[in-house]
Amino acid sequence: MNTSVAEIGPDVFRISTWVDAVTPDGFTFNQFLIRDEQPFLFHTGMRSLFPLVSEAVARLIALEDLRWVAFGHVEADECGSMNRFLAAAPTASVIHGELACTLSLNDMCDRPPVAVPSGPEAQPLDIGSHRLRFLSTPHVPHNWEAGLWFEEETRTLFAGDLLTHTGHCPAITDSDVVDAALAADGMFHATALTKELGSTLDDLAALDPRTLAIMHGASYEGDGAGQLRALARGYAAM
Ligand SMILES: [Fe+2]
Ligand SMILES: [Fe+2]
Repeated sequence: MNTSVAEIGPDVFRISTWVDAVTPDGFTFNQFLIRDEQPFLFHTGMRSLFPLVSEAVARLIALEDLRWVAFGHVEADECGSMNRFLAAAPTASVIHGELACTLSLNDMCDRPPVAVPSGPEAQPLDIGSHRLRFLSTPHVPHNWEAGLWFEEETRTLFAGDLLTHTGHCPAITDSDVVDAALAADGMFHATALTKELGSTLDDLAALDPRTLAIMHGASYEGDGAGQLRALARGYAAM
């Protein structure tokens, strides 16, 4: 395994490890680092990936300067190494929604997590030159505590497991990823097909993201809203 780093927006970096496993075409595990006054990491990777991911983070910032550790939901690929990052960065905090903290993180984190408010009145998290808004997305794509982040300056939606697709891929693409994502979900059945799924995807589309930072697969640059609405239509047809 090796881990590559690509800048997908101003000071927004995709850290990507491809594994020849999970699917016949292989699979990518991506983390995203925003390099700023308060460096922000979205996804930690599994504990087994910590040596590779932390080395990649250390190419971009001093590891001990990491301030925020965020992720979509409580699963190993999203947050398995969170306590290792807390140990490596003495002022780092895990940050997630109230529900994730109450359900899991107050117990699981080696230091108390920060519970971030969500909703239209909530102030975004200002990390220097970037402003991040937490979006509570229960059960989308899965897990009760699920949430995502939207960076307002670069219009980047940190989309987590949404639009997961398999195989080797470029760091960033402007080609449609919806068909590949629906095909992958046909294999994984990872997305909770709830009655809120379509409206949540529509709410995310209303943010008009320019970049979709996808956890498994290429990042997408272009009409992010169009991709999210097409994804919603695909799920509605299931
Ligand atoms: Fe997941
Ligand atoms: Fe994931």
